[in-house]
Amino acid sequence: MKIICRCEDVTEEDIINAIKDGCTTLDELKHVLRLGMGPCQGRTCIPMAACILSRETGKKVSEIELQTSRPPVVPVPLGTLASGEND
Ligand code: FES
Repeated sequence: MKIICRCEDVTEEDIINAIKDGCTTLDELKHVLRLGMGPCQGRTCIPMAACILSRETGKKVSEIELQTSRPPVVPVPLGTLASGEND
């Protein structure tokens, strides 16, 4: 069993099964498996998942659309988050 996403505990087998069940994009894998939604935000697992998706679907890696990262709309200092303030 090869772990691909350590943050969300997703294995290569999970990804292959999701592709067999109809997932054809990284976004679909993300929605089904939570792939790339852990603390590292897919820094290590998304490139590996793209390779698996390429291999299993026959697409070139360059044809696979990588997910876009979305930073917070307004930067929030960590101290504010840690204080538990609601404002
Ligand atoms: S390894 Fe997948 S989100 Fe961190």
